[in-house]
Order: sequence, then structure tokens, then C-alpha cells
Amino acid sequence: MPRTITIAGNWKMNKTATEAVELAKPIIQSIANQSEITVIMCPPFTALHAVSELIANSSTRLGAQNMSDKASGAYTGEISPAMLRDLHVTHVILGHSERRSYYGETDAIVNKKTLAALENSLKPILCVGETLAEREAGKTFAVIKTQLVQGLAEVSASQAENVIIAYEPVWAIGTGKTATPAMAQEVHAFIRQELTGLFGESTAQKIRILYGGSMKPDNADALLSEVDIDGGLIGGASLTAKDFLALVEAGKTAAAKKV
Ligand code: 13P
Repeated sequence: MPRTITIAGNWKMNKTATEAVELAKPIIQSIANQSEITVIMCPPFTALHAVSELIANSSTRLGAQNMSDKASGAYTGEISPAMLRDLHVTHVILGHSERRSYYGETDAIVNKKTLAALENSLKPILCVGETLAEREAGKTFAVIKTQLVQGLAEVSASQAENVIIAYEPVWAIGTGKTATPAMAQEVHAFIRQELTGLFGESTAQKIRILYGGSMKPDNADALLSEVDIDGGLIGGASLTAKDFLALVEAGKTAAAKKV
């Protein structure tokens, strides 16, 4: 069975709750209850409730951009898995490079969050990727291997089927520089090989691996036609309905070809 193509929008720290509704409404009206691909919107925490109400009767899924690994308690400013579940959140982005570099999230922290998400029936979108310096030093595969092995420590094979990996080369995020389809495919194939080592062939074949980093309507078709690229985690181009809908269409086209 082919892996379901996933198009996920990471809005980052953009859009008030009011603006989020303005962005999400035309998208949801346009894609309605399509079932060919998985579409996920990841607004900031403050807009989750508003977007959750909008997508209540649609096939579109709701994702958060971060989460605490703790269940509850004296953790000022943190958001628990149960709080997300209560807002009908189904997915959570973990270990984004911006959280790793600006907020000091280590692989050990990302691992705790990944385990907490899975225990609470939230699907983690675990981000991995190398910096430009790491790529130029020939360390891409080593960096990604460490992020996968440590980030997925103690995850069982059955849990792993609910994990989505996002390969986001740091040098391509928000820069307008995209990995070429061949460069991205090379790393995606490496990730699937590592997942095979961790969880076995049949599980690794089921895990979706998204590409992120300046994915736009004009480069999406080529990226999504690669065999191990199962969708996109989109930043900038998820912030206008026109671009995001074009990416959803690119996802549907790729899904039709990959049957
Ligand atoms: P851009 O699409 O803006 O490069 O961002 C990618 C990203 O970081 C998605 O998580």
C-alpha cells in the first residue's frame, strides 16, 4: 500500500487567532472533505481553538508546533499533551531546528517529547536536518543518524508507525534555497534505511518522511515525485491560502501517480 501523501503547514509564530481564521477558512472551504491526502495545519497555540472549530467537520487535521513532555504541574508557560488533545489536535511538530537552535532543545529532550506524544495518542512530526556547515563537512548522514537514533530511543515498532519524520535541511529553511529533488531523495532514502535498522522493513516502509525547506508550488511536483518523499512540511508557503492550496493540489497529483 502506498504511503498517504501528507501536506503540513507550519505557520510558526505567525497569525493571531483572528488572522488564523481568515487564512484557514478559504482553505477548508476549498479542500472540504478530500480524502486523497492528509492535510495538516499547525497554527500557533493561541489559534488552535479557533482553527479547531473551523475544521471540526472536515478531513483536515490539526497540529501543534511544540509540546511539553510533562503531564501537568508547575511548568509555567508549558502546554501538555492532554491540553492539545482536548482541542482535537492530532499531530505535533517536535524538534524543529528553530527549537533546537534558539531554545536549546537537545535530542534527549526531543525524545522525551516524542514518547509523551505517542503515549497520549498524538502523532509526532519529528524534525531532523543538518546545517550548512555540517553538510559542507560531509557530516549530513552522521548528524541525521544521531537525531533519529536518539530522538526515537525507546519507541517501539508499533508506535513508530504513528511517527512522521520531517527532513528539513537547516540551510534550506526560509532561505529560498531548496535541496534539489535528488539531494532530498538521497537523504530520505538514508532515513528510511535507518528506520529499517531501528524498526524493521515493514514498519519503515509505512513511516512517512516529509521534506521541509523552501517548498513552494513551483518546486513541489519535482520533490514529491521522488520515491521516498511522502509529503512536505511547509513554512512560508503555508501562510497564504493560494500557495497552500496549490501545494495541496501538488500533493494530490503526486498521490495519484504513486498509487
Ligand atoms: P520554509 O518553508 O519557510 O522554508 O520553512 C520550512 C520549515 O521550517 C517548516 O517547518
